[in-house]
Amino acid sequence: MSAEESYKVRHPVLRPGRPYETCIFDGDNLESTFHFGVFQNNKILGICSFFKNHHKNLNYNSQYQLRGMAILGNQQGKGLGKLVLNFAENHIKSLGVKIVWCNAREVATKFYVKNNYAIFGEPFNIEGIGTHYAMYKVLN
Ligand SMILES: CC(C)(COP(=O)(O)OP(=O)(O)OC[C@H]1O[C@@H](n2cnc3c(N)ncnc32)[C@H](O)[C@@H]1OP(=O)(O)O)[C@@H](O)C(=O)NCCC(=O)NCCS
Repeated sequence: MSAEESYKVRHPVLRPGRPYETCIFDGDNLESTFHFGVFQNNKILGICSFFKNHHKNLNYNSQYQLRGMAILGNQQGKGLGKLVLNFAENHIKSLGVKIVWCNAREVATKFYVKNNYAIFGEPFNIEGIGTHYAMYKVLN
């Protein structure tokens, strides 16, 4: 799936009311970046993206960063987040990646814990968005 397709969800869910360009991430169009979506009748309902990105505090050679995890507001809480994340993790794992990590918004940490991610390090602030927790998961 293209990066552009993911912006249809990224913008309203993760950057509401902000300029469209704010939902474009560095590296979105790299060959090593993967964008995943969950669809119903060809309409995109949710997304996540994986970037080849090394976290300095994780001691694994092969790492990917999860970014832009989002489900449209009226579709949240129905299992779609879990569905698209599990699908994406399986794809990333099939590439030989051993560990994935993300900077999770405080409100989303329980969702990630349910999906077997664990917090590491101290919480930190991302300007304009709020408190975040670094979280990781070993792909077994
Ligand atoms: C966070 C988000 C991606 C989760 O997707 P979702 O489709 O709503 O979540 P799911 O329905 O797949 O939930 C999967 C599990 O996590 C739990 N969960 C999801 N959101 C939760 C929350 N806010 N608090 C507690 N548990 C939560 C569900 O209860 C479910 O548990 P179960 O498997 O035992 O039933 C989605 O709600 C969203 O887009 N939120 C706004 C944007 C956001 O915060 N993104 C994350 C940025 S880091």
